[in-house]
Amino acid sequence: MVLSLFRRDKLYKPSEQIADYAIEKIIGEGRFGICYQVSQDQKSYILKQLKRGMLKKAGVKARFEEEILRSLQHESVPRFIKKIERKDFYGYVLEFKEGKTFEDIIYLDKYVFERAEIYRVGRQLIEILKYMHSKSIVHRDIRVPNALYDGQKVNLVDFGLARWINNEKYRADMDFAFLGDFLLHLYYSSFQLKGFKKRPWYDELQLQPKELSLLKRLMGVDQRYTSIFDVEHDFYETFEANK
Ligand SMILES: Nc1ncnc2c1ncn2[C@@H]1O[C@H](COP(=O)(O)OP(=O)(O)OP(=O)(O)O)[C@@H](O)[C@H]1O
Ligand SMILES: [Mg+2]
Repeated sequence: MVLSLFRRDKLYKPSEQIADYAIEKIIGEGRFGICYQVSQDQKSYILKQLKRGMLKKAGVKARFEEEILRSLQHESVPRFIKKIERKDFYGYVLEFKEGKTFEDIIYLDKYVFERAEIYRVGRQLIEILKYMHSKSIVHRDIRVPNALYDGQKVNLVDFGLARWINNEKYRADMDFAFLGDFLLHLYYSSFQLKGFKKRPWYDELQLQPKELSLLKRLMGVDQRYTSIFDVEHDFYETFEANK
């Protein structure tokens, strides 16, 4: 920790260049890296820089992120464009995806997701998961800061924790609790606490029986799902039936 203070990575500023890319803005600094919006020939891209102090640890992580992103071709997942590897810089360029993070939409904009929109979002997340699981990939980080939304289309980013499914440490069903928790964030966007008593989500949200059973199985409160196809089946039943 202290070492990384001494060997602090250079933080690039707007208008500076890295390789042939111009820095537009810094999007955020995580534990392992720094994320920039960059441009080339008037097109935007994302540049993820790995911190040098973290390279040893993050090297493995980055390798998976690169390998997995390269193997995916889905309209809701950023394409891997190229790796930039130099003495003083290690990172990669990704396709820029439109939209704000659900985190910002919910907590900054205070946007309220109604049921029909929760359906629209959930349906897309399930499509992405179906595709990834069919490719033997588990994402392991489907959370509100890692998904983008423009009011219509959902994009999933941040494959830093994604792994190849081996049915031991890395199982497809790990994504289901994340999906459940994600949906709960959407449900809670319209929730107003009455009184002071904090109760568990399944008591305090006013859910229909099928929604409740779907969410309880996703969250592992009731018997966990083992396949995304079962999740999809129940999801459609829940939402189609009550449209
Ligand atoms: N391909 C992309 N298109 C548009 N925005 C993106 C893209 N990738 C990342 N972002 C934005 O940058 C933010 C940070 O990126 P990301 O989540 O991949 O990294 P991180 O959380 O900092 O890193 P990590 O969790 O891997 O340490 C995201 O929350 C999102 O707002
Ligand atoms: Mg992230």
